[in-house]
Amino acid sequence: MANFVTRAALLVALAAPTVFAQDADIKCSSGSPCPKDKPCCSQYGSCGVGAYCLGGCDPVSSFSLNACVPMPVCQPFDQDSFNNLDGFVKQDEYLGDPTDGAWVYSGEPVTSNGELWLTMADGTVGTLIKSTTAMWYGTFEASIRTSPGAGVVTAFIALGDSKDEIDFEFVGSQHLSAQTNFYSQGVTNYNNGKNITGQTDITADFHDYKIDWEPDTITWYIDGKEVRSLDRESTWNSTAGFYSYPQTPCQIQLSLWPAGLPSNGEGTIEWGGGLVDWNSPDMTNGYYHADFKNIKTTCAATPSGANVTGKTSYVFNDRSMTNQSVAITNNPTVLGSFQASGLDMDFGKSQEKNTTGSIPGQSGGGPSAAGPVDNGDGGSSTSDSGDGSSGTSPSGSASTGFVQGNGGMNNGASSTQIAPEQIMQGSLFAALVAIVGLCVL
Ligand SMILES: *[C@@H]1O[C@H](CO)[C@@H](O)[C@H](O)[C@H]1NC(C)=O
Ligand SMILES: *[C@@H]1O[C@H](CO)[C@@H](O)[C@H](O)[C@H]1NC(C)=O
Ligand SMILES: *[C@@H]1O[C@H](CO)[C@@H](O)[C@H](O)[C@H]1NC(C)=O
Ligand SMILES: *[C@@H]1O[C@H](CO)[C@@H](O)[C@H](O)[C@H]1NC(C)=O
Ligand SMILES: *[C@@H]1O[C@H](CO)[C@@H](O)[C@H](O)[C@H]1NC(C)=O
Repeated sequence: MANFVTRAALLVALAAPTVFAQDADIKCSSGSPCPKDKPCCSQYGSCGVGAYCLGGCDPVSSFSLNACVPMPVCQPFDQDSFNNLDGFVKQDEYLGDPTDGAWVYSGEPVTSNGELWLTMADGTVGTLIKSTTAMWYGTFEASIRTSPGAGVVTAFIALGDSKDEIDFEFVGSQHLSAQTNFYSQGVTNYNNGKNITGQTDITADFHDYKIDWEPDTITWYIDGKEVRSLDRESTWNSTAGFYSYPQTPCQIQLSLWPAGLPSNGEGTIEWGGGLVDWNSPDMTNGYYHADFKNIKTTCAATPSGANVTGKTSYVFNDRSMTNQSVAITNNPTVLGSFQASGLDMDFGKSQEKNTTGSIPGQSGGGPSAAGPVDNGDGGSSTSDSGDGSSGTSPSGSASTGFVQGNGGMNNGASSTQIAPEQIMQGSLFAALVAIVGLCVL
């Protein structure tokens, strides 16, 4: 139901001033695709190169279908405890090679007692972690102790370049319910959300959340108990002539983000339970946190009838963005530089790493000046306190429309300043810019 309120609100929401834009921010939509020199339409509807072309890149709104970089095929993941951030790559250092790590992140994850904490300090937009590979059906599960706090949202979702989406979302002011949702191609459908009420305090203890995504059925589980299922058959859309059912490869995302920022739309704030209290006793060590462990993903068998010409990457062959448009290929997934795109994967390869102008999203994942304390393993992850300017890439969820990447605030590192993302046209996806909160940094 996040979607109902957020999208309505976002369509009229403020677009933050593009004070740090180096280049004009070029918007994109399926009716208005990107130009050739900035061929990739990011998850939030802005054109660019580099990270704009990686996970979340919308093929239909890009210069051409092959502007977006192919997504690496599904790889299972299974880790119970997290004592360091090995296998987690900062978004602004990631060029598309999943052997660099299973996850990319923006913001500030830390580890504590074997748990992976997604933090959100005052003046930040929290933390987002995305799988570096996509899943074309499969299961994803985790034990989660969700964050309390009005306006504070914990999410565990699958999200595709097509904006197919399957969600668990937890609003921090509602300790006794979990929200489930799904979207097809980012189309708002107010009837898709369902609250699972009657939980014991989900912010107090870990509970197991699992989604089993099959070609014909999606099943949501809490603590091993089925709480919802959705049949593909029930989603037939006679107008569109296909099932409004998630059916294309998706990245798994874990996130903690502030719905309750004054700069957000009224509907978003309301849905999130009000404004975030940045002096709340719920903030430990100066930040809110959502805690994860026992993270496991599995990959379903290749769908029968799939177009398989290789085994390393998913591509889209046509603009329908249905399961039939997906092919499994051996096309490369790694960009030569942050100036490259799917049109010229090796562009800038020999040059030194240069993130300038290539990272969509906005600043704010980082900690406040104090920075979070890694009380687990002696500093695996404290890093870059105050360096909120380091760019990261698109993030967030279509259901919320929240942009969680980095790339914005000027802390003196002006070379990494990026035009913030704004609101995408049309009904596909509304992106929210929450610059005001970030300027606190
Ligand atoms: C779920 O609960 C939230 C918060 O009370 C509410 O905003 C939303 O409308 C509910 N969703 C559904 C589908 O009932
Ligand atoms: C059916 O698909 C069309 C086109 O994508 C969309 O506008 C409409 O909202 C969909 N209807 C439902 C019930 O999902
Ligand atoms: C795509 O979905 C249709 C149902 O809409 C199904 O009949 C077909 O087998 C699926 N194909 C693939 C490749 O998954
Ligand atoms: C299968 O995928 C390959 C690689 O993208 C493409 O060249 C080919 O046209 C596809 N075949 C069909 C029947 O769609
Ligand atoms: C990075 O790229 C930008 C724009 O392409 C360029 O102006 C800048 O000089 C580059 N910096 C380095 C260190 O190569």
